[in-house]
Amino acid sequence: MAEVSYRESHKYEGKGAEYEQYYRTGAWQRFLWSREQEIILKILEKYFAGKDVHLLDFACGTGRIAALLEDRVKTSTAVDVSVSMLAIARQKLERTEIVEADITAGNILKPRTFNFITAFRFFLNAEPELRRAAIGALVELLDEEGYLVFNNHQSLGSPWTKLLDVRHRQKNPEGIFNVMSIEEMKELAWGAGLEILEVFPVGFFHPPKIPVSYRLNRAIDNLASRLKCLNRFSESPIAVCRRRKNHRVDSSPDKEMTDGVDR
Ligand SMILES: C[S@@+](CC[C@H](N)C(=O)[O-])C[C@H]1O[C@@H](n2cnc3c(N)ncnc32)[C@H](O)[C@@H]1O
Repeated sequence: MAEVSYRESHKYEGKGAEYEQYYRTGAWQRFLWSREQEIILKILEKYFAGKDVHLLDFACGTGRIAALLEDRVKTSTAVDVSVSMLAIARQKLERTEIVEADITAGNILKPRTFNFITAFRFFLNAEPELRRAAIGALVELLDEEGYLVFNNHQSLGSPWTKLLDVRHRQKNPEGIFNVMSIEEMKELAWGAGLEILEVFPVGFFHPPKIPVSYRLNRAIDNLASRLKCLNRFSESPIAVCRRRKNHRVDSSPDKEMTDGVDR
């Protein structure tokens, strides 16, 4: 039987409300979101200071990322395939143009370009064909000097993810438990003609089934993210990419990766 594409996963009625609830109530999700907000704003300050920012929030879902950014950028556009997710985004977003479309099936946003493209909680769960199609379509929309920022919310670098992955494969070898390593993030970007400039670590301490307070998680993240040697152990890293300059066709990410990629 053919597997259903991730494109279809958020289309059922009520999914938008369900997703919103998950973010408001889950302790780990609330903690991650607080860190993600800080980092996204840091990226805005570091990479876009003094520039007019034209944002595209890809796979925007209920509008989490666009809602954080829409008042801080010159123009804001958000795109998603799910009517249910977009119904919630429409209630939240005031300055954002909302587009219901699948840009991998005819890129209707072309020939527009954006200098800040975000893609959160998408690539990990998208099947390989959709990952490649989506990043390819996003590169077509990325300004020459623009940045694509994406995250991987189940990084295999995290010891907790690794533990769950091993357990899942033992218990349910046929089932799906998506994980992505930092190397796979680099390869995904590289294959689309991008390079990762910087990886921000998010979420270090997530032992399965043990409740950890928000304050303790913040303290651990504050400390661990200062120690660069620990960066690859976070669960939900955020990568900043740009177009590769003078890239060679026969090269690989590890050969040509810029210095300090895991900062
Ligand atoms: C887990 S949600 C993430 C929403 C949001 N980015 C966030 O971080 O809260 C993933 C979203 O990807 C959307 N999606 C899946 N395939 C897509 C495609 N081909 N084009 C646009 N959106 C897509 C789904 O409809 C869903 O809303």
